[in-house]
Amino acid sequence: MRFFVDTADVAVIADLAATGLLDGVTTNPSLVAKVGRDFKTVVREICEVVPGPVSAEVAATDYDGMVAEGRVLAAIAKNVCVKVPLTWDGLKACRTLTTEGFMVNVTLCFSASQALLAAKAGATFVSPFIGRLDDIGLDGMELVREIRAIYDNYAELTTDILAASIRTVNHVKQAAMIGADVVTVPPAILQALVKHPLTDQGLRQFVADWEKTGQTIL
Ligand code: E4P
Repeated sequence: MRFFVDTADVAVIADLAATGLLDGVTTNPSLVAKVGRDFKTVVREICEVVPGPVSAEVAATDYDGMVAEGRVLAAIAKNVCVKVPLTWDGLKACRTLTTEGFMVNVTLCFSASQALLAAKAGATFVSPFIGRLDDIGLDGMELVREIRAIYDNYAELTTDILAASIRTVNHVKQAAMIGADVVTVPPAILQALVKHPLTDQGLRQFVADWEKTGQTIL
């Protein structure tokens, strides 16, 4: 499973990239607004730090606008993945941009039938939003399970499932168990994945016992 981080904060991304655990980045207009910096500069900087796919979302909502903006974003760096919404125009733009050789992430996916269309449109990634479905009392993880089952039925559907809108460590585990190809995780959740109280407790004990031996390894 590939790990992407879901943020537009370049310093945070650089820090996480240094772990060697980061396979890519996703951004969206809300995340870009949060950092308050020039969008294209931010995308360029992220692409220099992370060699894997970096999703950059179009602002237009019509086909012509999405294609034009997608081309501009894709020209920033080879690893830009153009992000388009799951609408008819978005699907058409996805087809055009993938035909031109660009990676496309079809975002705001909330149903398995939408995911089927994204795959038919040639999407590189489809992004089911787990947390936002949970927020309205539905089971976001069930959507990932449905998409996995559908894609596995048809060898010609090669779109990767990018589990998005991740809110908990458990979301990451469940997405991995279902077989999502990628998970995009907010930085805080990514850092929380390593945490376990028994690890901390066990390490404290080992350090204390090692000191009693009076030995050094180096
Ligand atoms: C994915 O590409 C989106 O940027 C993101 O996962 C949305 O998450 P949210 O529902 O927490 O805003």
